[in-house]
Amino acid sequence: MSNRRTFAIISHPDAGKTTLTEKLLLSGGAIHLAGEVKARGQARRARSDWMKIEQQRGISVTSSVMTFAREFDGEEITFNLLDTPGHEDFSEDTYRTLTAVDSAVMVIDAAKGIEPQTRKLFEVCRMRNVPIITFINKVDREGRPGFELLDEVADALALDVSPQGWPLGMGGLFQGVLDFNTGAVSRPEGPSREFLGTREADAPIPEELAEEIELAQGGYPEFDEEAYRAGDLTPVYWGSALKNFGVEELIGAIAAHAPPPRPQPADGGEIGPERPDVTGFIFKVQANMDPQHRDRIAFMRMVSGTFRRGMKLVPSGLGKPIAVHSPILFFAQDRELADTAEAGDIIGIPNHGTLRVGDSLSERNDVRFTGLPNFAPEILRRVALVDPTKTKQLRKALDDLSEEGVIQVFYPEIGAQWIVGVVGQLQLEVLVSRLEAEYKVAAMLEPSPFATARWIKGPAEAQEQFASFNRANLARDRDGDMVFMAKSPWDIGYQQEKHPDLTFSATKER
Ligand code: G4P
Repeated sequence: MSNRRTFAIISHPDAGKTTLTEKLLLSGGAIHLAGEVKARGQARRARSDWMKIEQQRGISVTSSVMTFAREFDGEEITFNLLDTPGHEDFSEDTYRTLTAVDSAVMVIDAAKGIEPQTRKLFEVCRMRNVPIITFINKVDREGRPGFELLDEVADALALDVSPQGWPLGMGGLFQGVLDFNTGAVSRPEGPSREFLGTREADAPIPEELAEEIELAQGGYPEFDEEAYRAGDLTPVYWGSALKNFGVEELIGAIAAHAPPPRPQPADGGEIGPERPDVTGFIFKVQANMDPQHRDRIAFMRMVSGTFRRGMKLVPSGLGKPIAVHSPILFFAQDRELADTAEAGDIIGIPNHGTLRVGDSLSERNDVRFTGLPNFAPEILRRVALVDPTKTKQLRKALDDLSEEGVIQVFYPEIGAQWIVGVVGQLQLEVLVSRLEAEYKVAAMLEPSPFATARWIKGPAEAQEQFASFNRANLARDRDGDMVFMAKSPWDIGYQQEKHPDLTFSATKER
């Protein structure tokens, strides 16, 4: 069990996540030619219309899983790499993905430093208590001085930073990265402009840098695995995904220090990987990956036990067992049938709507994992149909897409116009585009009178009383739960004061 490393790479768009992913897969022998991750991405895009948005915006909207293995010190380590959308508008999706990982690599563009989007992603990590390794990418480009960047990371992340190496120069004038742990210098392949003379393998480290290196080594906390795993310290690596150096050190660090499968929060206490029977939870559902087949895949993070193909598991939402006959493991180029899977692994389970995000799966239906919330939307829009005869298709589409977590849907108690809620603007574009491509529904989004939504919790009587007075501001979500549609934050405060026995919650456990 301890040889699994399940992690995500998070970064703002363009920091180099795709390039780094490719190099990691390459180093693990999972792919043989650089360029295949991109090529695969394009093939995938060609198959699915709505992913045009991905292409137009140069962002990745969907999360995927890739597995590869590699030997370190005579032990084979299996890496499960979960991709996350880089754009902050999809931070909810990122949050859910982070519930399924044990650690994260944060990629920062050396020239750009910490961007607001990166901050938001980091907050998401914090909420999940996911330990972070920082990789400062593109040190082959013109960039800022190293110290400034380190301090910026420390500040933005409110963490101790512990540099594990030092770039010997920055920008085109570049010699390599010195690894503090081995004393070795990792040098760029191929021709590049020379820095301070030579970049031969045994070239001495330029004297001009000696003082800087001493400061970098002495002026920051030493690496401390416990502090890293507790989320109090981030080790910092430098390199270039494109020129392929510093990447070895990074993957070595993940193998050596990133935590193996961690216990997961559940009703009645945490459940750890040492539990013998199979448990897991669904953190993502992706529909219509292949529009020809209307397929629907639920991604399950294994928390404990050894899964075997054909096994019967009980999804908490269903209450009766399903036989998992064709679980899928995801490799760089391929999907394969999974014969077995261990704690920490992610398997895809094809299904027709029986599995939902937030479902727990177990052999005996005795486990409920917690901590997969919906967040109160920050943007609400009314959905108007161009062709009013398409109501049924629209309802199905909105239910499906809210299931997937693309949007949230609210059905008002009064009136027929349905409302969708999102955390970021781009989600709306994905919605409209997918409605059209996958459900053949042309829809327009119109302003709604509401600013946000709150889930109402409390005694049934109090709920009913509240409802009878506020019908015009009430809606039901996809599960039929009661939601207060608020015109302003003030509105929420006011109602809360008036109804102390009710809670107006900004999140809802799925
Ligand atoms: P993302 O997934 O985080 O959005 O970033 P991606 O890997 O697509 O990289 C964004 C751009 O940055 C790409 O250039 C990529 O080649 C470049 N890049 C990534 N790592 C490095 C690095 O270490 N050094 C330098 N100099 N550039 C790097 P592009 O021109 O947008 O795309 P392409 O023409 O290379 O496909």
